[in-house]
Amino acid sequence: MADNGHLFVFCADFYRHEEMAKAYNLDVSESVESTEKFMVGVIDAALAAQNMSVAAESMGLGICYIGGIRNDLQGVSELLQLPHRVLPLFGLVVGHPAKETDQKPRLPLQHIYHENGYHLDHSTHLEEYDELISSYYHERTGGKRQDRWTEQIAGMLSMPKRMYMKQFVESKGYNKR
Ligand SMILES: Cc1cc2nc3c(=O)[nH]c(=O)nc-3n(C[C@H](O)[C@H](O)[C@H](O)COP(=O)(O)O)c2cc1C
Repeated sequence: MADNGHLFVFCADFYRHEEMAKAYNLDVSESVESTEKFMVGVIDAALAAQNMSVAAESMGLGICYIGGIRNDLQGVSELLQLPHRVLPLFGLVVGHPAKETDQKPRLPLQHIYHENGYHLDHSTHLEEYDELISSYYHERTGGKRQDRWTEQIAGMLSMPKRMYMKQFVESKGYNKR
């Protein structure tokens, strides 16, 4: 990250809105501290980042999302001097790709798209996708990895991570009511 491309840090930001409201003598804290506004802030930042990604890739640049900044959001906040109500969410590195890699195989459509209600077809097993992903990793890592997707995700979710987040989010004035 330090040596390649440019690192953007995307944040949920209601600081500006709260400052604006002061000019009208309005207290917006109850609204800003709601779970709804927390979701609005996170959704908007994710939309902006994905648009930046699509634009960058359309220009031949490469991107990598960096969830790793959430290992230490207090440190990120201090480094970037983020005020209360500015919640750092994730990074996005944009740069000139060192090499072209194949697109990672996507989940079968019937697992992510439902019409007129949620109908997960349990008969559609993921074995085929697991095989596909396994050979993708094998090829991409020169044989170092051959994870199956279902195993990888179940294993990852079985180990709680960054459990300080609830407290941190609240300390930034989000998701409190
Ligand atoms: C939300 C999100 C967070 C990610 N965080 C990191 C990260 O912290 N460090 C990293 O090296 N890659 C990170 N990645 C990138 C993944 O490691 C991986 O390269 C990518 O998801 C592979 O899929 P792709 O072929 O669609 O790019 C992240 C990806 C996503 C979607």
